[in-house]
Formats: sequence, C-alpha cells, structure tokens
Amino acid sequence: MANSNLTEAKRAKNDEFYTQYHDIEKEINAYIEYNPDVFRGKTILLPCDDPEWSNFTRFFAQNFERFGLKKLISTSYAANSKKYKSGYQPSLFEVNDPQYDAYKTKKNGKIFILDHDRSGDGKIDVDDLEWHYLEGDGDFKSAEICGLRDEADIIITNPPFSLFREFLAWIIEAGKQFVIIGNMNAITYKEVFPLIKDNKLWLGATGNGNDMVFGVPKGTEVAESDRQKAARLGYVGDYTRLGNSCWFTSVDHGKRHQPLALMSMEENLKFNKKLKGKESYDCYDNYDAIEVPFTDAIPNDYDGVMGVPISFLDKYNPDQFQILAITKTWFGAASKIYPPQIQVSANGKRSDVTKLNDGATLKLDRPPNGQTYYIVGNDYFIQVYARVLIKHKKLTK
Ligand SMILES: C[S@@+](CC[C@H](N)C(=O)[O-])C[C@H]1O[C@@H](n2cnc3c(N)ncnc32)[C@H](O)[C@@H]1O
Repeated sequence: MANSNLTEAKRAKNDEFYTQYHDIEKEINAYIEYNPDVFRGKTILLPCDDPEWSNFTRFFAQNFERFGLKKLISTSYAANSKKYKSGYQPSLFEVNDPQYDAYKTKKNGKIFILDHDRSGDGKIDVDDLEWHYLEGDGDFKSAEICGLRDEADIIITNPPFSLFREFLAWIIEAGKQFVIIGNMNAITYKEVFPLIKDNKLWLGATGNGNDMVFGVPKGTEVAESDRQKAARLGYVGDYTRLGNSCWFTSVDHGKRHQPLALMSMEENLKFNKKLKGKESYDCYDNYDAIEVPFTDAIPNDYDGVMGVPISFLDKYNPDQFQILAITKTWFGAASKIYPPQIQVSANGKRSDVTKLNDGATLKLDRPPNGQTYYIVGNDYFIQVYARVLIKHKKLTK
C-alpha cells in the first residue's frame, strides 16, 4: 500500500474512536460544579453520536433532569458514508422496531430526540429517546444537520479527528457554545490559536495531556503498546489510548480561574531546580521576550513578554495572563526573518534549510554540544520548542 493510502487508512480508523462515559462525566461535572445552571433550559446537539454506542448520548439523557435541559438531539452518521468500514450490522433494537428499513439503515443517518417523558414513568431519561432515520446521511455539513445546529445552544461531541478544523469552523460560524475533543497539536492551527488568544476557546478542565482511552469498533487493529496502556487504565478488549487528546471548549469552568502560584525571577534562579546552572533567563533573538522553559518557572515579577511551553494552556488563567502570540506558526509576529541557514544536526550532518524562521531562537556565542544548531553568516542559533507568548496582566509583586 502506498504511503498516502496508509495515512488515509490510519486517519479513517482514528475517526472511529469512542469516548468513555467516565471521561465525559468528569469533564461535564467540572462545568456543573462551576455553574450548576450552565445547561439549564438549553438545547444540546450531539452531532456525531449514535446512542446505541455513544456515551455522550447516554450521559446527557441520564442527566437530562439534573441539568434541567430543554432538549437533547443526537445524530449519527450513516454506515455507508463512514470512511472506516467495520462490517456494519444493525442492532436488535433497530431491527425489532417497526420503523426498521434495511436500505436506510446503511444509507441514512439517524436522529434521536429527548424532550419529554414518553414512557409515562414520571421521569425523563434514556428510555424516552425517540428516533427516526434522517433524510440524509447525517453529515454535519449537510443542510439537515446545519438546521439542527442552528436550533441548538451548545454543540458537544468527540468529532471525527480527520475533520477537526472543518468541524470547529462549522460551530464558530454559527456562534454556538461547544465542548469538543481534539488533539493538543490543534492549538497551533490557524483556525484554533486566534480563538485561544481572544479567549473564545480554551482547554477543558480534565484530561489535558493525560492518557485518554477510546473504544474502537470490534476487531480493529490496535498497537500492542496502546492496548496495554488502555488495559492498565482498566479497559481491556477493543480499546486504544491517545496521550495528546484534550477538550476544547467555550464553556467556563473553575480550573481556568485558579491563579498560578509563582516565584520571583530571583527566587526561580536560586531555588527552581529546573533552572539549575542558569544566572539569568535567555532572551529570544527574533522576538522581544524571555525564554521560560517550564510553566512553574514563570517569574511573577517580570513585566515583559515571556515564551512558555504550550502545556501552559492547561494552567492558563485569563485573569492572570494575557496571550499575545504563538511561535512556530507565528502569524506574522516574529520580529526578524533569517536568510537561508546551515543546519548542523547533533551528529554533525550539515544541510541548507530555512526552518529557523519556524520558531523562537536563541543566539549563542559558540556552537552547542550534542544539539542541533543553525549557522547564519557568522552567528550560531538554536531553536526552542513551540512557545506561547504571554504577559502578566498585573504584577503581583
Ligand atoms: C471520533 S468518533 C467519536 C464518536 C462519538 N462522538 C464518541 O465520542 O464516542 C467520530 C464519529 O463521527 C463520525 N463522522 C465521520 N464523519 C462525519 C461527518 N462528516 N458528519 C458526522 N459524523 C461523522 C464517525 O463515523 C465517528 O462515528
């Protein structure tokens, strides 16, 4: 199989990762803890969720009354439209229903609605979901699902990984609130970072950067190491895990209002073990900011711009810091563009490149040992990992 086909196959497989009930519960409870009425009177749309297997639908249906929801709508994508074919079989629940249609079960998506006590048992829960086939295949971009999006107040799901950018744009263009799962790498996307900078999107309260376990269709090939890690977390069988998935949301939670406890610059240089051997913080050559290689090394008394690791966003409190830019994608923020450079890799191999412009740089007096560096004219540089450029809103010291 050609390489591009392999990548395509992997992507299709990653689109069928099913979120665990416990992960949904932990995250949504954080919003409820911060504001018990956050979902009250709201219509929630789960646009990539078949309740026959989606824990999102189960979770919100079970908590319909506790959250005070007005309406829950859950739609699923037709088996024949999915990129990953996994030997689809309709469930007994569907086959035994008078609505069952052998053609539509593969060609059409389904919609499940919950808004009142249909069973007459005095409560609204998962048993009151009513369903029918959609007109189309349930593609979130179709006019049919766009109509449901426009009716909803909040969109919640784990969308297909391969369509994350399109999915987020689809929510943003409609101005809806959201809670969705994505990959940490998305932080640097041009569709995502400007929203983070403007406090229109932030990381969720749980799971960021930790292993998250996902169900996979029966019999899906899973790397042995991922299977074992999932098993260690208590999920044995058709499960895998991802180490870099996270929640992206526009719903507020308490974690983003906890101030980060920090030391002064002097205290960090004296006591922070991670800065051992340093006499001062380094300054970038291509942006007026200091390099802060660890979030816990952010000085509480520095008034200028600081470059911090992307993982800082898990601790970001918008009352404490302002986000100015991001290196790597830069979005035009770099103060200098270098001419083509010579890259010298750790093993001494030399090549002509232009990638020094892709990140924040530190100028050195001499070539470093055992580390990739760059030569521009007579100058030596190293490039640091992607950094978020931040500033204190108000100095606390
Ligand atoms: C990552 S899975 C997550 C499923 C579910 N939300 C969950 O978390 O368990 C994404 C789902 O979206 C479906 N999907 C793929 N493309 C879609 C599209 N264009 N419109 C709607 N759903 C789609 C996939 O078939 C898959 O079932």
